[in-house]
Amino acid sequence: MPILQPPVPELPAALSFAGKTAIVTGANSGLGWASVVHLAKRHISTLVLAVRTRKTGEATKAALLADPAVRALPTPPTILIYELDLARPSSVAAFASKILADLPTLDILLLNAGMGNLNWVTTPETKTEQMFQVNFLSNAMLAVRLLPLLRASAQKSRATSHLCIVGSRMIPLHSYTKNPIPETSSVFAFVNDPAHFKKFSRYPDTKVLVTMLVRELARRTDAAEVTVNSVCPGMVKTNIDTKQPLWIKVPMVFIHAIRSRTAEVGARTLVNAVSAGPETHGQMLEDFEVNAFLDTEQGKKMEEKVWKETLAAADSFAPGSVEEANLRD
Ligand SMILES: NC(=O)c1ccc[n+]([C@@H]2O[C@H](COP(=O)([O-])OP(=O)(O)OC[C@H]3O[C@@H](n4cnc5c(N)ncnc54)[C@H](OP(=O)(O)O)[C@@H]3O)[C@@H](O)[C@H]2O)c1
Repeated sequence: MPILQPPVPELPAALSFAGKTAIVTGANSGLGWASVVHLAKRHISTLVLAVRTRKTGEATKAALLADPAVRALPTPPTILIYELDLARPSSVAAFASKILADLPTLDILLLNAGMGNLNWVTTPETKTEQMFQVNFLSNAMLAVRLLPLLRASAQKSRATSHLCIVGSRMIPLHSYTKNPIPETSSVFAFVNDPAHFKKFSRYPDTKVLVTMLVRELARRTDAAEVTVNSVCPGMVKTNIDTKQPLWIKVPMVFIHAIRSRTAEVGARTLVNAVSAGPETHGQMLEDFEVNAFLDTEQGKKMEEKVWKETLAAADSFAPGSVEEANLRD
């Protein structure tokens, strides 16, 4: 990994999201916040801020409307606040149902919210490992539930919709090669067993699952209708490290100072991903090659299992959603 990261080009001046509706999860902080600023400045019509609390959403909305570039727009975007806690499947289900009931169209689904953690923590409702639930499973459930709306909106507008899940180029640091999941074991059960929790690998482990999901969704989705991709923004100074122990936070201050992109710069890669063409379908957009594991025999077999288990989870999360999203082979 080079010490300095390559520069990220400015977004094209002509890029416009006029007439479009976008959902951005984790819109209150870091890359999510910088992405909603980019989208607002580029004339997005309706912006859904998906955040953990209404209070955070109100503060984010006020900050966005106070941004000088947004204030200068002839028509500011309609900003809607929806509560979403990815650690709680009940919140994910309520969010998806409200979106389907309230939004006539959805052109962009930017599943950005995510977390890094070094400790084994389980979620309050399902007792699944938190990073697995937040970074992967809840995003998978949202993707399956909202795909039909993205498709229907593309058909209505005759323009491609976009579904992007934020990934990471830390994927090569995953634990699946060193600690292979036995053929007879479920992937979900394996990663939710504390005996298999490797603290420095769990974050990339969850992002491997995200990348596999994006590939499988893309295989079953017409790129001209909904382009499905993933993106890594590079190393970006955000709040993601703030909950880490001091021995990580302190060196990170120096590392960020030397090499990190600002959230504004990193978010350009997210906004690029949700406006990118069909060549990005199923891809993880990034600077380095990281997909080697995914294309090994072991990776392919694991991806098949991840997909089957994701569909089973979606079936029990929202019965009928897999058929509705036309994802059954
Ligand atoms: N920063 C980097 O260098 C980097 C590199 C590669 C990929 N990424 C990815 O970029 C994405 C955004 O991260 P960031 O760097 O911008 O970090 P951040 O500033 O910490 O933002 C993370 C966002 O996710 C939200 N979130 C966390 N847990 C959630 C939950 N249970 N339910 C709903 N929302 C939740 C946070 O909400 P709260 O504010 O309420 O906690 C926050 O809005 C993540 O997917 C991360 O993995 C970051």
